[in-house]
Amino acid sequence: MRHATLVEAEGAGGRDEADLVAASAPMRRLVAEVARVAPRDVTVLLRGETGTGKERVASLLHARSRRAAGPLVRCNCAAIPAALAEAELFGAARGAYTGAVEARRGFFSAADGGTLVLDEIGELPHALQPKLLRALQEGELQPVGAGRIERVDVRVVACTNRDLAAEVRAGRFREDLYYRLAVVELVVPPLRDRREDVPALAAVLARRLGARFGVAPVRLSPALVERLAAADWPGNVRQLENAIARMIALAPGPVLGPEAFAAAQPRGAGAPSRDAVPTAQGVPTPAGATLRERLDRLERQVIAETLAAAGGNQSEAARRLGLARTVLIDRLKKYGLL
Ligand SMILES: Nc1ncnc2c1ncn2[C@@H]1O[C@H](COP(=O)(O)OP(=O)(O)OP(=O)(O)O)[C@@H](O)[C@H]1O
Ligand SMILES: [Mg+2]
Repeated sequence: MRHATLVEAEGAGGRDEADLVAASAPMRRLVAEVARVAPRDVTVLLRGETGTGKERVASLLHARSRRAAGPLVRCNCAAIPAALAEAELFGAARGAYTGAVEARRGFFSAADGGTLVLDEIGELPHALQPKLLRALQEGELQPVGAGRIERVDVRVVACTNRDLAAEVRAGRFREDLYYRLAVVELVVPPLRDRREDVPALAAVLARRLGARFGVAPVRLSPALVERLAAADWPGNVRQLENAIARMIALAPGPVLGPEAFAAAQPRGAGAPSRDAVPTAQGVPTPAGATLRERLDRLERQVIAETLAAAGGNQSEAARRLGLARTVLIDRLKKYGLL
């Protein structure tokens, strides 16, 4: 029996957003589980290594649910500063804190009637864990500085690349919250366990990226696809996507052969971080650039190369750079690398 390899999310607003390649047996199993769980209004925990497609699976869960016509809101728990996290999640009354000149709507109320994806749930500040538990259990929340309680109707899908059960044992994550989140726990397998997905993924990514870059469709030769399927992708689908983006950006013609793969390897990829760090000479500097501009260019390049060398794993790149993850994410945003 032949299986469709591309799962389309019927009823989803942006169809392409929820399209998901699932050619391999492990991914087909996952998609079958998603189909079963999506219409039941339970909280789902998606676990998987960085770049495996957790967000995409979360979108599919939404698209296949009875909430598909409602909002799909994503909150990256690692990217919000601890001091603002409560207001970001639950909202804030006017004047709740300095600078709060207007009442502010939180992610939860923005997702009312729909799905809230709590990405990187393992990074949620500890102090917020009881409040999140209450929101999940009672469907109730209290905006910062507000006397009133708000009721919301939100389905939560949480994502993590950590072993949350281990975080619970280490005392870093509340056990009751873990059980409340992991009513259903689904695992998105790493790409090395489903190489059969690579050809279809490569084709879909090439099409998507070509459209995004506004270039004529680029075809990947069978020899190139073979190389891609055999390669190691510690950063999983995201790393594959970045490699294809580079190949398309550098493509000399409409068909990409295996030589494109080598040419598109980021300098220093896979090498220990010290080797991956470029010197100031490595950064082309336009005449008349100020010191600040030159340093920014250098910083951007160091960050981009370290991230590539870490296979797109932000935590690992932050560690290599000696930066807090939140600081790294700020820089990635600043330099348009996110
Ligand atoms: N099965 C798939 N089919 C099509 N595209 C995919 C698939 N899996 C991942 N992608 C694409 O790969 C990229 C990374 O996926 P996604 O952001 O969902 O990963 P993630 O697990 O959330 O990563 P992270 O842990 O870094 O947040 C996205 O551009 C996504 O669209
Ligand atoms: Mg993600």
